[in-house]
Amino acid sequence: MSSIKVMVPRLANMIAAGEVVDRPASIVKELVENAIDAKADHVTISIEEAGMKKIEVTDNGHGMTHEDAKLAFLRHATSKIMNESDLSHIRTLGFRGEALAAISAVGKVMLKTRLAHEVGTFVTYHGGVLVDEGSATLNEGTVITVTDLFYNTPARFKYMKSEAAEKNAIIDMFDRLALSHPSIRFHLSIDGKTVKETVGDGDYAHLIDAVYGRRMTADMTVFEESVQKITVKGYLLSPKISRSRKKDISLFVNGRYFKNYKFTQAVIDGYHSFLMVNRYPIALIHLTLDPNLIDVNVHPQKLEVKFAGESLIGYHLETFVKDALMKRNHAVQEAYEKREPVQETYVRGELLAEEASDAFQETVSGKLPEMEYIGTYAGTYLLFQNEKALYLMDQHAAEERIRYEHYYHALSHPKKARAHLMIPYELNLTHDDFEHLKEGLSHFGEYGFSFNETLAVTGIPTWLRDDEIELAVETMIAMLVEKNRIDLAGLRDRLAKDISCKGAIKANQSLNRAEVESLYRRLKTCRNPYTCPHGRPTVIELSEYRIERMFRRVV
Ligand SMILES: Nc1ncnc2c1ncn2[C@@H]1O[C@H](COP(=O)(O)OP(=O)(O)O)[C@@H](O)[C@H]1O
Ligand SMILES: [Mg+2]
Repeated sequence: MSSIKVMVPRLANMIAAGEVVDRPASIVKELVENAIDAKADHVTISIEEAGMKKIEVTDNGHGMTHEDAKLAFLRHATSKIMNESDLSHIRTLGFRGEALAAISAVGKVMLKTRLAHEVGTFVTYHGGVLVDEGSATLNEGTVITVTDLFYNTPARFKYMKSEAAEKNAIIDMFDRLALSHPSIRFHLSIDGKTVKETVGDGDYAHLIDAVYGRRMTADMTVFEESVQKITVKGYLLSPKISRSRKKDISLFVNGRYFKNYKFTQAVIDGYHSFLMVNRYPIALIHLTLDPNLIDVNVHPQKLEVKFAGESLIGYHLETFVKDALMKRNHAVQEAYEKREPVQETYVRGELLAEEASDAFQETVSGKLPEMEYIGTYAGTYLLFQNEKALYLMDQHAAEERIRYEHYYHALSHPKKARAHLMIPYELNLTHDDFEHLKEGLSHFGEYGFSFNETLAVTGIPTWLRDDEIELAVETMIAMLVEKNRIDLAGLRDRLAKDISCKGAIKANQSLNRAEVESLYRRLKTCRNPYTCPHGRPTVIELSEYRIERMFRRVV
């Protein structure tokens, strides 16, 4: 057995680096956080080949002396905390003194920096070793250039996801950094092209529009509340612009982006009655509180934050979101329900879930029997009878099933004719989704979509209704992002489900006899008439025997 030795610092740094900088996006994060801590109000990020070739961050912050520039690369070297007590009131984004040491351990770094009224200087580190230093010309502030990332850690290099995935991670990171600082002007360019920029005028509406895309804040709800010395400020985008992923719910505490399952869920629950099932909002929640009430020192990447009284805060957050949306979106919600009548049914659907096993026992199976319509109960349940039983049909669930099968069938032949739109349809997508759309344009062509040069929709497949364009395009984009392709079976199921519940008749919309009979006839032709596409029953049977038992006529 060989004896134990303490590692040389260079090796220790390389090992530790893996926790701080595991991919290009985390380097972008650390460098931009340093710029913010240096009080910059203009930060430019330039990326080449998803950061593997080059990451450069330029700021107009306070800069450093030449000596500090060298010290900054030592592990645990920081200007932000000095003693243990500082650890409990951290106001800066960095404090661990690890980032530059870690980055220089896994790549080649050149740092140029200049204090006000001084001359500029530079230092260059390769794999953690100082290889060059001298004077440099630049404006006040700091420029850090990282090249040849992971050149000395081939295992990590191989581990990188696709260039597209790394690029998306960088853009996501940029969004979060930009969204946390409305007064800083940010600029991101990738391979020489401007991808996003913010104005830094302190206005959240401008900021959100810059990050997510134009017109996004049109129906935005803003609230400010406080609970237990915490100020909670929320920017809630209209529920009409829902997403298929949760990632656009962003949480910030004292200007730091963080992840927290409970709080994210609280926001989703607050939006609950405004959104369809499996749809998520775009929302920003900023918490401001005394730094000693939280612990950000949970993980090297500082993405987790511990709160005292987390559950209680989550509970209040949900209420704030719900109340604010109620106040602001009354009119919106009514209009929304008219267009998208599913809301209530879903609420009921969830309640039903617990009783579902019971209900299913009463569900008939096999072919839908001949039965006669006798009336409607509670504006929602259609009552039918025949010689054997009494039947209750949920008119919304039944319509959903019918529409689902219609779309499922239509989508089985997706290459069919294309309908041209007289007026091109302007999509309400985020910047990122527009980018994904651009990249995946050929996939859309295959399904009968066409676009003009501004990416407004000019043609749609004939099976799609005008008011379903947005949903279809967004579903397809989500698939492209998740799987890099649109898989027909998955799309068919997902779209058919979404579209079918969107347009289906509302739970308590009254139907006349002819409409009821048409519904019954159409349901009868369905391959699986007994459940809605989400698995809830459409028809429940109360047999004569069961009714007699309820009246204790038989035992
Ligand atoms: N862009 C910058 N402008 C001014 N100073 C910087 C910049 N980047 C890093 N520094 C200095 O280098 C130190 C080390 O940075 P870093 O390794 O990220 O650790 P931390 O941010 O945790 O202190 C910082 O404390 C700061 O003094
Ligand atoms: Mg730092």
